[in-house]
Amino acid sequence: ADPDSLQDFCVADLNASISINGFPCIPASKVSASDFFFDLSKEGITNTSNLNLSVTPANVLSFPALNTLGIAMNRVDYGPGGLNPPHSHPRATEMGLVIKGRILVGFVTTSNVYYSKVLTPGEIFVIPRGLVHFQKNVGKGKGTVFTSFNSHMPGVVILSTTLFGSQPPMPNEVLTQAFQVDDAIVNSIKSKFGS
Ligand code: GLV
Ligand code: MN
Repeated sequence: ADPDSLQDFCVADLNASISINGFPCIPASKVSASDFFFDLSKEGITNTSNLNLSVTPANVLSFPALNTLGIAMNRVDYGPGGLNPPHSHPRATEMGLVIKGRILVGFVTTSNVYYSKVLTPGEIFVIPRGLVHFQKNVGKGKGTVFTSFNSHMPGVVILSTTLFGSQPPMPNEVLTQAFQVDDAIVNSIKSKFGS
């Protein structure tokens, strides 16, 4: 989904003082082989979050050689029952490969149709750009999924934290009306997302 690049590569200068769409390139003379490699071999620590989840991104911010190439990956590790909660990527379609676990993958279309399947290692899925989706490890052991994106910075909108954890907070009169619940319920959810 990103624009085409105009040169072989443009390793990002993440600290450049000018601001453009994407990042300026570091000089080619400063580029070395190590810029083009990134280690996703380490299992993330999942048991520190309620979600029992760890996402290790390989996007332009962590892997600057991706700048302008229109591609990125994540390593997603799940403990038993781990959940990657409903979210969307405004700038990319997502494809995922299950390495470990039994992974329930679901997404909902703009017509509000829900599609889902439980995947086992070796199986892949696709989430069309922008649609709300989740993955949950429904197996008894750990789970691992590698996801890929057609953007160097897919972006992520996590519905729970977007609606109930923004700073400053979204007004209760909006959330109570939207979800047809009272203030106590909205406050209770907000308290869990730091807003
Ligand atoms: C999974 O949905 C991911 O965004 O990596
Ligand atoms: Mn995703």
